[in-house]
Amino acid sequence: MGRCIGVDVGGTKIAAARVEPDGSLSRRFRTDTRAAEGPASVIERICQGIEQVMGEESVEGIGIACPGPLNARTGVVLSPPNLPGWDRVPLKDRLEERFGVPVRVENDANAAAWGEYLMGAGRGADPMIYITVSTGIGGGMVLDGRLYRGADTYAGEIGHTIVDPGGAPCGCGRRGCLEAMASGTAIARAGAEVVRKGNRRIRELSGGSAPRAEHVFAACREGDEDASRIISETVRYLAIGISNIIHLFNPRAIVIGGGVASAGDVLFPSLRERVRACLMPSFAGTFELLPAKLGEDAGVIGAAALWAKRSE
Ligand code: BGC
Ligand code: NA
Ligand code: ZN
Repeated sequence: MGRCIGVDVGGTKIAAARVEPDGSLSRRFRTDTRAAEGPASVIERICQGIEQVMGEESVEGIGIACPGPLNARTGVVLSPPNLPGWDRVPLKDRLEERFGVPVRVENDANAAAWGEYLMGAGRGADPMIYITVSTGIGGGMVLDGRLYRGADTYAGEIGHTIVDPGGAPCGCGRRGCLEAMASGTAIARAGAEVVRKGNRRIRELSGGSAPRAEHVFAACREGDEDASRIISETVRYLAIGISNIIHLFNPRAIVIGGGVASAGDVLFPSLRERVRACLMPSFAGTFELLPAKLGEDAGVIGAAALWAKRSE
């Protein structure tokens, strides 16, 4: 491939990098998304990122990994639960007008799935299912060597499969979605709840401000009971979502990425056990449940890799 630019638009952070023909990253850029400021402001920050990493030499294309649902053919972002105020935003057209370079817009989890399949933990595994657990929960599926997008390119919304009817409200307007029960946001919310009820350790770790998922994980590692219970509930819901996917697709590998997955030490052993307990016995030993390898770069690499190798 030629030189490309990859941008990962997360609910919390925007990351961009120039991806060289050999696949290495240069000129990294990172900033807060400030999603609450709405689409115009977020797009401005995406443009800043692209400008920062563009450099003098021309690029073949720009790949944008963005929370969905979105239309990957037209590059129109519909109404992502974690990007407030977005409603049918023609992101591809806007960026092409601004930079005069071809742009592809892809669902963030699909882009990361593609990156992990080509160069990360999912290399050679087919089908490969990627799940990101971060601000939101998203999924990407590689079937027969291609990204599976569905009829309208909305496929893979595992975060909005319902795992607890009547459960916590979700950003999508419904209740009990996997994202509402087990995302980084859900862990943080549960952390705030136990702090309100008197938990001291999580409050100390978060320095008095609103706890984040990482504070709950840290308290869990120290054996804090509230934190351990929150993480064990998280794992229980993730296992329901993952085992449903395994029953549907009979994948060879499930790769878990996103900020929450980087707390792998407290997550993976119990997650493997819980998933196994949810499965029909015949599925035992048919798949691997692996932590992502590309870490925070998965979205950026995957978005750029949309230009490197055709994903359809
Ligand atoms: C969105 C997905 C996205 C995921 C992770 C979910 O709320 O619906 O499209 O992949 O968050 O950002
Ligand atoms: Na997806
Ligand atoms: Zn939802």
